[in-house]
Amino acid sequence: MQYSKKVLDHFMHPHNIGEIKDADSVATEGSPACGDQVTLFLKVNPDTKIIDDIKFQSYGCASNIATGSIITEMAKGKSLDEAKKIDWKSAAAELDGLPPQKMHCSVLAVDTLRTAIQNYELKNNLIEKEVISKTTIVKELKNIIHPLSGEDIISMKLVKYAGFENGIAIIDLDIPSFDQYRDNIAEEIKEHLEKFEEINDIKITM
Ligand code: FES
Repeated sequence: MQYSKKVLDHFMHPHNIGEIKDADSVATEGSPACGDQVTLFLKVNPDTKIIDDIKFQSYGCASNIATGSIITEMAKGKSLDEAKKIDWKSAAAELDGLPPQKMHCSVLAVDTLRTAIQNYELKNNLIEKEVISKTTIVKELKNIIHPLSGEDIISMKLVKYAGFENGIAIIDLDIPSFDQYRDNIAEEIKEHLEKFEEINDIKITM
């Protein structure tokens, strides 16, 4: 697998690795695609809402460690609002690219950062708990990466319909039967959506 020099540098010498004992927010996320896990710790200035310190622990692969390293660098010293804008595409670009089948590792690291920010905001009454809607479902689907292209399934127009009705997430996929990743993608969608308590059932058609 071809990695950029920057990915290898961050993998061999990751920045901001470790734990913050008196963290203001902690988040742990797992990747449905590979089962790996990341934990991220935040220390936030309560007045300015600037991220004063950030650390992470990864049980993932080289791409995941490199992404954890780069996003913690990108987020440190930024306001929560600025840090929220970091996405897996900008993280991968900052690393001079990742192999397509490794993009989900970047998603995992960025998801963990977003959850840590959200946990802080909920705990400090800066935001209200999100009401699940079609927008939530689409946002989650944007985090499902096709391993051959390294693009998300929404950008690739592989989703014909996504909705949320009466506690049921409804997704209609347009993935050809010869696509070897078709079933994996459906499984990954389920695993991504199962984390929402308000979703009682997930119906996927193809
Ligand atoms: Fe699991 Fe990369 S393969 S995080």
